[in-house]
Amino acid sequence: MEKHTNVSGTSARMLVFRLSVMIKLFFQLDASICPEKCDCSSKNAIYCSGPHIKDLELLNLPCNMTEIHITNANISYLQDVFARMAELQHLILSSNNIALVSPMAFKGLGRLKVLKLLDNKLVELPPEAFDDMVQLQQLIIESNRLKSVEENLFDKLAGLQELYLNKNQLTALPSDVMKKLAKLRVLNLSRNYLAALPRNIFSALARLERLMLYINRLSSIESGMFDSLKELQELFLHSNNIHSIAPDAFHCLHKLRTLTLSRNRLQVLPSGLFLHLHDLSKLTLYRNPLRTLPEVLFGEMRHLGSLWLYHTKLSTIPDFVFSNLTNLELLVLSFNPELTVLPRNVFSGLTELRSLSLHTSNISRLPEGIFLSLQKLQNISLFDTRLEVLPRNLFHNLKHLQKVYLNSTNLQSLPADFFTALPELEEVVLDDNPWKCDCQILGFREWLQRSTAIVKNVPSLMCHSPMALQNTSLVSLSIDDPECLPTTGMTYQTFSSTCFHTLTSPVAEHFTLSRETAVTVLSDMEITSTPTSILPATPGLTYSHVEDVGQPGLHFSDVPVQTSPSIIARTNSVRGTDLTTLVWPPTSTTSLPRAADLAALIISEHFLGMSEELGGDVAQGMFLPDKAISLELTVSRRAEAPA
Ligand SMILES: *[C@@H]1O[C@H](CO)[C@@H](O)[C@H](O)[C@H]1NC(C)=O
Ligand SMILES: *[C@@H]1O[C@H](CO)[C@@H](O)[C@H](O)[C@H]1NC(C)=O
Ligand SMILES: *[C@@H]1O[C@H](CO)[C@@H](O)[C@H](O)[C@H]1NC(C)=O
Ligand SMILES: *[C@@H]1O[C@H](CO)[C@@H](O)[C@H](O)[C@H]1NC(C)=O
Ligand SMILES: *[C@@H]1O[C@H](CO)[C@@H](O)[C@H](O)[C@H]1NC(C)=O
Ligand SMILES: *[C@@H]1O[C@H](CO)[C@@H](O)[C@H](O)[C@H]1NC(C)=O
Ligand SMILES: *[C@@H]1O[C@H](CO)[C@@H](O)[C@H](O)[C@H]1NC(C)=O
Ligand SMILES: *[C@@H]1O[C@H](CO)[C@@H](O)[C@H](O)[C@H]1NC(C)=O
Repeated sequence: MEKHTNVSGTSARMLVFRLSVMIKLFFQLDASICPEKCDCSSKNAIYCSGPHIKDLELLNLPCNMTEIHITNANISYLQDVFARMAELQHLILSSNNIALVSPMAFKGLGRLKVLKLLDNKLVELPPEAFDDMVQLQQLIIESNRLKSVEENLFDKLAGLQELYLNKNQLTALPSDVMKKLAKLRVLNLSRNYLAALPRNIFSALARLERLMLYINRLSSIESGMFDSLKELQELFLHSNNIHSIAPDAFHCLHKLRTLTLSRNRLQVLPSGLFLHLHDLSKLTLYRNPLRTLPEVLFGEMRHLGSLWLYHTKLSTIPDFVFSNLTNLELLVLSFNPELTVLPRNVFSGLTELRSLSLHTSNISRLPEGIFLSLQKLQNISLFDTRLEVLPRNLFHNLKHLQKVYLNSTNLQSLPADFFTALPELEEVVLDDNPWKCDCQILGFREWLQRSTAIVKNVPSLMCHSPMALQNTSLVSLSIDDPECLPTTGMTYQTFSSTCFHTLTSPVAEHFTLSRETAVTVLSDMEITSTPTSILPATPGLTYSHVEDVGQPGLHFSDVPVQTSPSIIARTNSVRGTDLTTLVWPPTSTTSLPRAADLAALIISEHFLGMSEELGGDVAQGMFLPDKAISLELTVSRRAEAPA
């Protein structure tokens, strides 16, 4: 009996043992089973996503992964679930609603290379949070609510190469916060509330290549702030409140290629400010209330291809100021309502210039010879100005001139041979000018009759004076006046000298007024290139998809790295459009990028096909210019990784 009991006791113990083994096995299995709604299909990586994830402990994450992605979950407090996952190299925790991080959250992550905390609700970080990540290369804390960072937060990150703190609420930074980041190459501090920066904040960043400080509240750039940044290639300072810059602020940035200073409060620029930036290929200065430019501003800059100086308060521009910009191809001086006087040598040295934009300004005359240097000029816009008379040989040396916009000016006449020596001329716009239909205009009218292929809307060019001829078509004008001599240069000379007299006459003033009210507003939308797909219109914008010029027939899906086609949106009313509100749905042949995938935005003033890149950042809060001007947006997608 006892033996029997013994036997059954033994079997009971065996059962318990077996059970416990099974239970253990079960739990082990459970641990290697992929957590619910996670994707474990790649060997060392796990992907979990969705708002049902509220507690990371319950996920029971395997602890030998090298990559963990948890996104779009609903985790307000980040506990220490990752601590001691010694194999972990990539930890992606984007868009999880995280507001608080335990000081132990990342303990023991000695091999971590990439940490993304993008798009959460972090207000602060424990000072020692990153202390074990001695191999970290990329740290992204973009789009949170950080108001400040502790002085020692990054002290152990000696290998860090990229730090993104953009889109937070930082108002200031401790002066030593970057002191250990000697390997940093990219620092994005844009879209914060930084009003001032400690003078030595960047002094340890000897390897920094890109520094983004745009959309902050900086008011001045002190001397010495950038002096250690010998490797800096791109410096973005646009959209701040900068009203003063130390004269030597940029003197040590010998490798700088991009400098953006647009949308600030600069009224003056110190003499020689850009003198040492010989590698600069992009410089923006537009939308500053600049009143004057110093006589010496630019040193030799062989790579600068375009210069944008619109929306300023310049009333004149010094002679020779651009003469070191020997490879400039585009110069934009339009939308300068106070620009009244241009001296004769203002464009001296611009021998490579292809496009010159001077429209929508207060210019009433141009000195003879002003365009003499511009032998390669192709396109020029002079519309919406107060030009009353032009030197007869203004364009005579411009053998490559293709497009001339002279609409909406105060021109009353032009000499017969004004456009005749221009073999490549393609398009001339002369609309909306107060033509004076007297003997002197007959030669020009003859040229018009011969040139209907290149002059736009020839039949709609109307006489404005004398009263008797008002609203008769200039091109069909016939004057049976025996006093009208055969048209020669001589008659124009006479005309041009009398014309100056009329400048102050009441008639001229009348013209001025009528010009102002006659400024035409183009139709709201316009599509240019042959669209392969027209997308549902977001108010005020029309899209057309244009294939990359160099890659005919390619669709997005076939696009190799770096040759991404672009989207062109053209509009005249883009006031305050937030780009991220635009939705570009996929179409049958192409999948168009989401705003977040866009690499670049180019705003072009379409009449000249000129363009300006606003930088590789099309993100929330990226608003189009607040003035409704005619624009073309070329939006290119981030280059795709090869499949
Ligand atoms: C991780 O651990 C599990 C068991 O816990 C094992 O099955 C798996 O092979 C391990 N993976 C790696 C990459 O070591
Ligand atoms: C996230 O969790 C909080 C409570 O912790 C809840 O109030 C909120 O609705 C949740 N959000 C989502 C998107 O599930
Ligand atoms: C052109 O650059 C040189 C130095 O590169 C400078 O000495 C000179 O003053 C500059 N000229 C103008 C007109 O800015
Ligand atoms: C435009 O120029 C005229 C002189 O030609 C000047 O009287 C007027 O003030 C200028 N307008 C602006 C806005 O500067
Ligand atoms: C000038 O205009 C012509 C004709 O539209 C165009 O083909 C050319 O590309 C333009 N040139 C520049 C430099 O923008
Ligand atoms: C002048 O003509 C060009 C080309 O047609 C056009 O883009 C521009 O808006 C016109 N300007 C005005 C003020 O009408
Ligand atoms: C010419 O046309 C304008 C606008 O259409 C009009 O205001 C003006 O009265 C006309 N002048 C004459 C003399 O018909
Ligand atoms: C700023 O940082 C973000 C990284 O999150 C990047 O996507 C963006 O392009 C950066 N801005 C610029 C101008 O490079």
